Amino acid sequence: MHIRIHTLSLACALALGTNAALADVKVGFMLPYSGTYAALGQAIENGFKMYVDEQGGTLAGQKIQYFQVDDESDPSKATDNANRLIKRDQVDILIGTVHSGVAMAMAKAATGSDTTLIIANAGAGALTGPLCNPAVFRTSFTNWQPAFAMGPVALDKGYKTAVSVTWNYAAGNEAIEGFKESFEEGGGKVVKELKLPFPNVEFQPILTEIAALKPDVVFTFFAGGGAVKFVQDYAAAGLKTPLLGSGFLTDGTLKAQGQSAQGLLTTLHYADGLNTPKDNAFRTAYSQRYPNMAPDVYAVQGYDAGQLLAAGLEAVEGDVQQKGKMRDAMRAATIDSPRGSLTFSKAGNPIQDIYLRQVDGEQNISLGVAVEKLADPARGCKL
Ligand code: PHB
Repeated sequence: MHIRIHTLSLACALALGTNAALADVKVGFMLPYSGTYAALGQAIENGFKMYVDEQGGTLAGQKIQYFQVDDESDPSKATDNANRLIKRDQVDILIGTVHSGVAMAMAKAATGSDTTLIIANAGAGALTGPLCNPAVFRTSFTNWQPAFAMGPVALDKGYKTAVSVTWNYAAGNEAIEGFKESFEEGGGKVVKELKLPFPNVEFQPILTEIAALKPDVVFTFFAGGGAVKFVQDYAAAGLKTPLLGSGFLTDGTLKAQGQSAQGLLTTLHYADGLNTPKDNAFRTAYSQRYPNMAPDVYAVQGYDAGQLLAAGLEAVEGDVQQKGKMRDAMRAATIDSPRGSLTFSKAGNPIQDIYLRQVDGEQNISLGVAVEKLADPARGCKL
């Protein structure tokens, strides 16, 4: 009886093209499925699963088994949540997360247990800076990257003074630093930085202060539900000051923002209207599979996490236990991303074009590349 079952599963494995000697590859999603970033987490999972399903549900011949934890974008629960996937579920690969503070704890748990981590959003510079590690990869961005690209755009428009507005945590602080660096290098001046705690959305005092300060321009980082409300409140306040942002301000949010977002300029590593064969195929497939969700930057980052894992598994013929060889192949991979071609720095962060986009209807239409092949400086990374 035992032998018969074994023979059957072997036959099954051969039919599926899988290597029966190897166990399934266990992938753990640690993402926000609730709170202000819930839609972002869902889009990352959607993109990843779509890629795997496009490959017939296997990568390098291995079946992928999924585990999930809702991290609630809460850094205080992050270590426990990561360990649920690492120790309880014994995942081979961690995928996550959106919030930079949660990702910091996740990276420590991953490197402490030698588990491969693919960060599919969180932009904290430290993850591919002082904390960089051969086990840690990112298919998204550093918070610095899109924000740094906006400085020259603002200068080009003749703006000389700016006020920055954001949530007071790693993502917001690093984004406004990135903008300040390039804006002030070119002769601009950030006259004030206004912050509120994550994920608060009581923006009225801040809008009143902007009205009093009258800068040439406002630069901002908000994302998810908070971005929807900020853009709506900004428009409702009737401020004449132009608003610029890291592109998260208007990504995956335009249906809800509607009229209030029209014409906004942002910089990001993805845009609508790229009109390349790869992006068109991705967008058509995503829209068919998830008719109620726009193919946004988060879906792309999840999709590319799937592509990056595939590159690693192919190099070891599906044997996820060969961690060193798998990670070397991932570092060296060139990904055919919907955003354009993607390579990785020594620190494991994408080197990528940053687009200037403008909101038109429910799309962030590309106006062209703001900065080509922008690499994060990876300050403090010793790899
Ligand atoms: C972050 O916390 O790093 C973060 C969150 C949401 C975004 C971008 C960055 O859209």
